[in-house]
Amino acid sequence: MRQLIAGNWKMNGLRHTADAILDPLLAGLALDHGLACDLLVCPPATLLAWAAGRLQGSAVLLGGQDCSAGKEGAQTGDISAGMLRDAGAGWVILGHSERRAGHGETDGVVLAKVRAAVAEGLVAIVCVGETEEQRQSGQASAVVQSQLLGSLPADFDGVVAYEPVWAIGTGRTPTEEDVAAMHAHIRATLVSHLGQAGQTMRILYGGSVKPSNATALLALAEVGGALVGGASLDARDFLAIARAARQLPQNAAGARTPA
Ligand code: 13P
Repeated sequence: MRQLIAGNWKMNGLRHTADAILDPLLAGLALDHGLACDLLVCPPATLLAWAAGRLQGSAVLLGGQDCSAGKEGAQTGDISAGMLRDAGAGWVILGHSERRAGHGETDGVVLAKVRAAVAEGLVAIVCVGETEEQRQSGQASAVVQSQLLGSLPADFDGVVAYEPVWAIGTGRTPTEEDVAAMHAHIRATLVSHLGQAGQTMRILYGGSVKPSNATALLALAEVGGALVGGASLDARDFLAIARAARQLPQNAAGARTPA
């Protein structure tokens, strides 16, 4: 299995700015003759069909940033998993902290959305992560475990992203030791909750991933890739992060444990 490098554009992008990211990204990939990782871009829903056209024939994967738990009907402003698929997406980010905090999404809401996404054949990337206050009071592991148990169906077979809330958009990251320890904790939780599927599931790290720290973060044990926000809006930075990715061992995402 390969590491997954996913770009979350958040609420950024118009057609011309999307081209300013996608065109150099595709040109860079052509120069590289492909990459050692799986590469995913998640633009706003308004750009999915546009991006799908641009990415046609390339290996770059396309995803949404959220979906409704509902299938269709009277839910003004919501977008269903089927609509994402129809617009060209094969993936969807769910339970991002900006949705959990800004839109009141509980674990139960995220779970329902994951079920809706999987029912439409989308691969879900489910985000978990503690706030700074929770980390400082020693609750980080418990918070993340409870989010995993509450957000993932027992037959989940997608991707998990660990994104400490305090590291998002701040330029701060946990130490390598802390990332490795949390990913080991997530792995153990996934194995006990999901069995076999939990053993190989990719666990992404997200939160201020940049070209300057990508090699060190992506080399850590149990880090199965990165979920990149700000740096994914610059094709050169996003490509540099993708070039830092590595092949994962067959049975687990294990690699270097920090000394
Ligand atoms: P930044 O990379 O901008 O810190 O954002 C991380 C994130 O929230 C990705 O989902």
